[in-house]
Amino acid sequence: METKRKALVTGASSGIGRETAIRLAREGFQVIAAARRKERLDELAKQNPNIIPRSVDLSDAQARDHFSKELLNLADPVTVLVNNAGFSLRGAFEDVSISGVKSLFEVNLFALIQITQACLPGMRRLRKGTIVNLSSIVGKFPFPTSGSYSATKHAVEAISDALRMEVRPFGIRVVAIRPGMIGTEFNETANRLTGDLLSRTDPDYKPVYQAYGAGMGKLFANVSIPGPELIAELIVEVVLSESPKTVYAAGPFVKELLGERLRLDDEGFYEFMMEKTGLKGLKV
Ligand SMILES: NC(=O)c1ccc[n+]([C@@H]2O[C@H](COP(=O)([O-])OP(=O)(O)OC[C@H]3O[C@@H](n4cnc5c(N)ncnc54)[C@H](OP(=O)(O)O)[C@@H]3O)[C@@H](O)[C@H]2O)c1
Repeated sequence: METKRKALVTGASSGIGRETAIRLAREGFQVIAAARRKERLDELAKQNPNIIPRSVDLSDAQARDHFSKELLNLADPVTVLVNNAGFSLRGAFEDVSISGVKSLFEVNLFALIQITQACLPGMRRLRKGTIVNLSSIVGKFPFPTSGSYSATKHAVEAISDALRMEVRPFGIRVVAIRPGMIGTEFNETANRLTGDLLSRTDPDYKPVYQAYGAGMGKLFANVSIPGPELIAELIVEVVLSESPKTVYAAGPFVKELLGERLRLDDEGFYEFMMEKTGLKGLKV
């Protein structure tokens, strides 16, 4: 009997990861769905017999070690890895704690590195595999007040670019996905973890936050925000493709902002973003 191709999707309890796990399961993959919220994963597995729930806190180094060992010892290795778990924290540079920045890097970058390292030996053995890393449009440029999150995604881009060249000789493909704004729990989680910035920031920063808030209000006016299906379908297309591209981008602001970042020089893009974010000409 032919064994099912095995996939691993991290951050599968909601949003993009959940939709991706469902679609890969439908395509016949046996999908390990990993995240912290066990009830969500169990529910997902109940509805999809091809899904194996795996509750794991990817910010916890010990839990990651344990999970990595499991992955390394699988008889049928993971050949499709979707590194999707991630979150954001907001705040001006001076308002973000170093522990907050570390927690972002633990999940968005270090977990991605460690889980990928645990899947690569199996992929090399089989001389095939697809690794899909969730970056963001902010993997190529930052918004003000989310420099740390953006830094994690810049790192994901760099890691993906280097790894892609290293493992191509073994038939392993590495693809980065850059979503624009997508309607998931992402924003709600970022707001909850960030808390009320205005009540704790130095008075100097209040006008900065206010101008930025107004700038963002304008930028987001009349933008219709797609659901996670948009990105999940793209990921499945990448996985099933004979020859996927290195990078894909989809969603709002891909053309308007990422497109400008790729077109303008550094000075030009700085001026463009100051204007777009409502900070141009602000003096405090
Ligand atoms: N939504 C957007 O606008 C957008 C745009 C660009 C890029 N992205 C990227 O897309 C990816 C998916 O985000 P989403 O929009 O689908 O957000 P989401 O709905 O909030 O999903 C995030 C997932 O990550 C998991 N996760 C977070 N911390 C974890 C931890 N410590 N251990 C294990 N799992 C953890 C969450 O599960 P638990 O809470 O159950 O652990 C959840 O399943 C992220 O990498 C994000 O940076 C999103």
